[in-house]
Amino acid sequence: MTIVVGITGGIAAYKAVGVVRDLVKRGHDVHVVPTEGALRFVGLPTLEALSRNPVTTSVFEDVAEVRHVALGRRADLVVVAPATADSIAKMAAGLAGDLLGTTLLATEAPVVVAPAMHPQMWEHPATRANVATLRQRGVRFVGPVVGALTGDDAGIGRMAEPEEIVEAALSVLDSPGHQPGSAGADPTAGRDRRAAGEQRLPSGSGARGEQGDLAGVHVVVSTGGTREPVDPVRFVGNRSSGRQGLAIAADAVRRGARVTVVAANLDAASTAGLDATVVPVGSALELAEAVHAAAVDADVVVMTAAIADYRPAEVHAEKLKKDAQGETMTLELVRNPDVLAELVAARRTGQIIVGFAAETEPDRDARIELGRAKIARKPADLLVVNHVGWTHGFEREENAIEVLVPGGEVVRETSGSKAEVAAAVLDLVATALT
Ligand code: CTP
Repeated sequence: MTIVVGITGGIAAYKAVGVVRDLVKRGHDVHVVPTEGALRFVGLPTLEALSRNPVTTSVFEDVAEVRHVALGRRADLVVVAPATADSIAKMAAGLAGDLLGTTLLATEAPVVVAPAMHPQMWEHPATRANVATLRQRGVRFVGPVVGALTGDDAGIGRMAEPEEIVEAALSVLDSPGHQPGSAGADPTAGRDRRAAGEQRLPSGSGARGEQGDLAGVHVVVSTGGTREPVDPVRFVGNRSSGRQGLAIAADAVRRGARVTVVAANLDAASTAGLDATVVPVGSALELAEAVHAAAVDADVVVMTAAIADYRPAEVHAEKLKKDAQGETMTLELVRNPDVLAELVAARRTGQIIVGFAAETEPDRDARIELGRAKIARKPADLLVVNHVGWTHGFEREENAIEVLVPGGEVVRETSGSKAEVAAAVLDLVATALT
């Protein structure tokens, strides 16, 4: 496979060396295209030695072989790691002022981007808009993650680890939306396949799940509970076990769906047997990125994850010491984005979005009223209200639910095992899709 690795000018450029090394080790023909800025962080000879190919930043070298177009055309995959805010802005605008820019414009290969920047830059509306534009064009994002940043800072914006970037990049080539030679993964691929019934095999084929009522449908399930880091060893978390979401993911697989699970803090064993793409995340901001990335070509998004509504305003790069705090300590929290509300606002025609509402209210009617208010605020296609408390809902096998639709009507009410609840929810989803 011919892979172009674009490296842009951020401190994480030194970690991109690991991406190049790993891809070469796996037998790929790797061409590194650094920006001028990247070469301030990592030397050109290092990149040539590791990639075993010549490295240049300039469109004015090898002009005779039209290198700026040739590389893009030859590439089966383009990875940009790290991608700075500036380089993401340039990609969104289609600027082609250097070899990386021209390569990105000339390529029809899938593009995978691993951002790295400070939290304020990542969360700036300009960056958010650029990321959304690129996602709409089929560009895949991996990370950023929460962790230590340059200097004393910490928070969202750290580049994903090289192994994670390589795994995500290579998995794009395997994804059903990707056709060799196509301009990245087609965000509408799932829906088109479903409409054409392409994946519905004749009955009796014996292959996994193809006859199910979700055959050819891409279902994204967020599950688990987010952890909002305070410092490298502490977090603010919740009691969600992720079992209800995993039951939904398992049932969706059984019904023939292609399933992506965005798993917040679940141990690997809990998803090991699941025939799904699992994207592990930690914090709400990481979960938001992963869900939005997966939702681009999803037909159904089920938001079972317990996402913290607030995160510590400051993530400390070093462990907080109690001597510096005294007898009491105040933790300032700031609001997290509401992923469900964002999904509903950006919903494509035909996409089904399912929200969950964990309520401690013991009285059924009062609980339904709370659900009605919630679905009025964030008009998902279905809102599954479940009763939680010290002894209900969390970490249990059993669950009790009422399902509401916009307008507030209760369309289903059931209790039972989490598998039974999953089946009830997906029955409604399957009906909504038809
Ligand atoms: N959710 C989300 N993003 C958040 C918080 C919640 O996407 N930051 C999703 C959950 O995955 C769930 C739904 O929103 O599907 C319900 O969340 P919940 O916190 O129960 O509802 P809120 O609207 O936050 O209301 P309240 O805090 O009053 O319970």
